[in-house]
Amino acid sequence: MNKPTSLPKNHSSEADAKSTNVDRRSLHRLYDSHEGKVSDKWSIYLNEYGRIFSKYRNRPVRVLEIGIQNGGSLEIWGKYFPRAKVIIGCDINQNCGQLTFRKKKISVVVGDANTDEVEKRIIGRSDAFDIIIDDGSHRSSDIVRSFARYFSHLADGGTFVIEDLHTSYWKDFEGGIYDPLSSMSFFKRLLDLINHEHWGLDRSRTEALAAFADGYGVAFDEHSLASIHSVEFLNSLCVVTKRPSQENILGRRHISGKIAAVEQNMLHLEGTALSAVGQAENPWSLKSTTMEEEIVRNRELIERQAEAIETLTRDLAGSQAQVQAGAYALQMANADLQATGKQLKKANTDLQAMGTELEKTNAALVARSEDIAALKHEIELIRGSRMWRYGSFVRMLTSLSSKATLFSGRTVSLHALHEAQLNSHRLTLTGNRYLAKIWSALSQSRLKTADKRSQDRSIAQDSKATMGIYLDVDFYRNNYADLAHMSDEHLRDHFVKHGAQEGRLGARISLREHFLAEVKSNRSILEIGPFCNPQVTGEHVRYFDVLDSQQLVARAEQIGYPIKAVPQIHYTSAEGDLSAVSDTFAAAISCHCIEHQPDLIRHLQQVANVLDDGGKYYVIVPDKRYCFDHFIPESTIADILDAHFSKRGTHRLASVIEHRALTVHNDCVRHWQGDHGIPLQSSEIVNRVRTAIGEYEQADGGYVDVHAWQFTPEGFLRDIQALYELGYSPLRPSRVHATPRNRNEFTAILSR
Ligand SMILES: C[S@@+](CC[C@H](N)C(=O)[O-])C[C@H]1O[C@@H](n2cnc3c(N)ncnc32)[C@H](O)[C@@H]1O
Repeated sequence: MNKPTSLPKNHSSEADAKSTNVDRRSLHRLYDSHEGKVSDKWSIYLNEYGRIFSKYRNRPVRVLEIGIQNGGSLEIWGKYFPRAKVIIGCDINQNCGQLTFRKKKISVVVGDANTDEVEKRIIGRSDAFDIIIDDGSHRSSDIVRSFARYFSHLADGGTFVIEDLHTSYWKDFEGGIYDPLSSMSFFKRLLDLINHEHWGLDRSRTEALAAFADGYGVAFDEHSLASIHSVEFLNSLCVVTKRPSQENILGRRHISGKIAAVEQNMLHLEGTALSAVGQAENPWSLKSTTMEEEIVRNRELIERQAEAIETLTRDLAGSQAQVQAGAYALQMANADLQATGKQLKKANTDLQAMGTELEKTNAALVARSEDIAALKHEIELIRGSRMWRYGSFVRMLTSLSSKATLFSGRTVSLHALHEAQLNSHRLTLTGNRYLAKIWSALSQSRLKTADKRSQDRSIAQDSKATMGIYLDVDFYRNNYADLAHMSDEHLRDHFVKHGAQEGRLGARISLREHFLAEVKSNRSILEIGPFCNPQVTGEHVRYFDVLDSQQLVARAEQIGYPIKAVPQIHYTSAEGDLSAVSDTFAAAISCHCIEHQPDLIRHLQQVANVLDDGGKYYVIVPDKRYCFDHFIPESTIADILDAHFSKRGTHRLASVIEHRALTVHNDCVRHWQGDHGIPLQSSEIVNRVRTAIGEYEQADGGYVDVHAWQFTPEGFLRDIQALYELGYSPLRPSRVHATPRNRNEFTAILSR
């Protein structure tokens, strides 16, 4: 771009200068008397413009005003500069395109002054200007950009005025008193550019404006910046004048006068130039960044750090949550480990006890074998003796052998015992001490059976003393080291008050595995409801179920249970009617079955019918406190009798709702630890109750398989005992065992 041409020298400048005061008044007067288009200027501007612009008044001045609004200022500049060559106004507002002016030299360019296209149109009308007034948007970015774009079009000797700089202190105009990139910060920095030669550094003016160049995307021209002659600040106003760069340097020293009484050296300084002291060692000069850049960079750094801190804080919170979850999981795992450890310890103790018992049984077996061998030997002796000849003795021996079979059964009569004793006596009298010995052995065996029964009775008495729950005092003492020192009475008291609640084993048989071992020892067994997991197996076991074998296999497959163990079902009744069972048994067993019986009394009566006299019904029953039934109230004798009296064949709606909607988790270890889960939220209850009602209605009076009864060992014992005493159940509770710790079921034996 060509260097803007400056105005021709003003020959009447002296006269102009003298008339400054007049000019000032006249600009005011012009504004005050103006009746054309509206203009908007502050009082101080009008006062100062008289001083600043008076030198251009009678010259062919070229004026550019950015931001003209109603165009009034252009009309007044037209009057104030009567010899003006061009007065161009530029405004972004399209309406300014409608403005017309009587004076031909006044024209308007509509558009954004800070675009190449508008700049081109302006420069197309005048390649340079003597006066440029920025009265545009007053935003810092626009002001800096306009200066960067149009200062190069200012002619030497020209004046660039920026109005309304008070906006530089306002946020809405991209400013603030300490904003490093505000328009005021920019013009303040220009003061340093005027003094560039004194910096003592090898640093250009454009470098000093790098932050503004970067911040506003503009480029500054070193040559143009070197032509800044003065920067003057007034209230809200900045006036930048331009002169050729050689006129902006400090120049030579002028010493005038001849008497240097105080500092004589001064005389030698005449005509010298100031050479800047190098500031390469000055840390304040050496800074590679300008103050503005530094502030901007620091602000960006702080923002980035704040973001990093926020991310780290979030990460930390996440890690803390993970650590907490991990700690909780560890705690749970520890609790499980402890529980498993205790179980293992108990299992070891049980194993030891079993080992001891096995040893005892073995020893007894050996002793028995020896007895039998001795008896055999004696029989051999008899056979070889003269006595053998006594035919009556041979017949007697035959008769005795058939009676011996009777003794091995469970229906030995008192008469048989009496007969045996009598025979023993008779044989002794007859001198046959061998046969007498056999009789005596058989009598002993019978007496042992009688002893066992009396022992059962004493256990029943023990049961009463321990609130009815079975306690094997010796086992209890031996199984728990902390109880080893206690008397029997003390132990019973301990079991009732603490042991049962703590889940300590009151007897070895409390555990399902030992319980089942006893069940298996029965001569003949009926298992009720084995499904795909029979509790006892063998030749002597028969099975009853509501489904036959094929149906059970199909059902197991349907719900994903293994089918391998589904047994051959011998008796079936879809209604669970045990009258379908045609035989009688020494024992019956059901596992998690009786709580499903709609009419419990009828069930007990039917079980009694399929048992031999003295037969036993072994039951494994869920303890409502340690299974999903936890929050459902315990059943009462009234509930059981009510079901019987109403001949209940299917479950009540209440049971369906309880089972489907009011149950919780089924983790017995958690229940033993006191963690019973969270009862349902009301919204969940509504959905689950609705589903339960739907299921009940869909069954249309048919069977829905749910729990009808919720028992604890104590409640079960109490209710079964009451039913027996009331005559509703032929089965009396002979043993009810406490629920072992970390199990959800208890075992019981009912006798016919
Ligand atoms: C304060 S007014 C001008 C007043 C006028 N100079 C006077 O003395 O009466 C500001 C004007 O600047 C205009 N303007 C704002 N941004 C502009 C831009 N980037 N280029 C040109 N004009 C702009 C506005 O449309 C508005 O009319």
